[in-house]
Amino acid sequence: MGEEASRVVMITGGSRGIGRATAYAFAEEGARLVLAHYDPDETAAEETLAVLKSRGIAAESHRVDVSSYPVVTALLNDILDRFGRIDVLVNNAGITRDKILVRMSEEEWDAVIQVNLKSVFNCTQAVLKPMLKQRSGCIVSLSSVVAERGNFGQGNYAASKAGVLGFTRSVAREVASRAIRVNAVAPGFIETDMTAVLPEKVKESFIEQIPLGRMGHPEDVANAVYWLCSDKAAYLTGQVIHVNGGMYM
Ligand SMILES: NC(=O)c1ccc[n+]([C@@H]2O[C@H](COP(=O)([O-])OP(=O)(O)OC[C@H]3O[C@@H](n4cnc5c(N)ncnc54)[C@H](O)[C@@H]3O)[C@@H](O)[C@H]2O)c1
Repeated sequence: MGEEASRVVMITGGSRGIGRATAYAFAEEGARLVLAHYDPDETAAEETLAVLKSRGIAAESHRVDVSSYPVVTALLNDILDRFGRIDVLVNNAGITRDKILVRMSEEEWDAVIQVNLKSVFNCTQAVLKPMLKQRSGCIVSLSSVVAERGNFGQGNYAASKAGVLGFTRSVAREVASRAIRVNAVAPGFIETDMTAVLPEKVKESFIEQIPLGRMGHPEDVANAVYWLCSDKAAYLTGQVIHVNGGMYM
C-alpha cells in the first residue's frame, strides 16, 4: 500500500495536546484517522475534527476508555470491519495523578497504571493480529523523560512510563520478523493541558533544567512520532526517541 495514499492510523488521546498535533501530522499525507479520547465532553474532539475536515481529511473520533480491554476490542473489531486494515497505532492517551508516595492512594496508583500502561497492552494486542497478517505496521507509544530520571510526586506516572519502555522493547523483538516496528517517544516538558495545571514556580524550575530554554510544543513531539512511522525510520525498532530540549541526555 502506498504510504502517501491512505494509511489507517489510530491515535489514542487524539482530541487535544500531543495526540491532536500527531493527527495533524498524519493528515498531511492524507491518512484515514481514527481518534479515541476520554474527555468529559466532545469540545476538543469536535475542534480537532473540524480542522481535519477543513483540510479534506476523513477522520472519526470515539469517546472511549482505552484502559478497558473489552471496549478496545470492540472498537478495533469495528475499525477492521470497516477499513479492512490498520497501519499505525499511536498509544498516546495518558493521565497524571501526582502525589508523593506516602500520600498516594491505591486509586491514584491504579488509575495511572490502567490508563498509561494497561491501555498500551489493550491497543497493541488488538492491532497486532491484523498487522501480523498484513506483515506490516508501526506502533509508537508515548513514554516520558520521567521514565528515565524519575520525578518528585510522580511514582505512579514514572512507573507507568518506564513500563511502556520495557513493553516496547519486548514486543519489538516479538514482531520484527513480520516487519512490524515498535518504538517509543519520551517527551520532556511539553505545553499542553497536562502541564497547564502546574504552578508557575514549578514550570519555571523545569525550564531552568532545559538546555534549549523553553517548553516543547506538541508539534515537536508529533514530528518525532510521525517520522518513526515513516519509511525514513525503516531500520528503527525497539528504540526510544527523547524529545526534551536536552533536559535528559
Ligand atoms: N505534556 C507533557 O509534558 C508530556 C510529557 C511527557 C509525556 N507526555 C505524554 O504524552 C501523552 C499526551 O500528553 P498530553 O500532554 O497531550 O495530554 P493531554 O492531557 O493534553 O491529553 C490527553 C489525552 O488522553 C486522553 N485520555 C485520557 N485518558 C483516557 C482514557 N482512559 N481513554 C482514552 N483516552 C484518554 C484525553 O481524552 C486526551 O485526549 C500522554 O501519554 C502523556 O503522558 C506528556
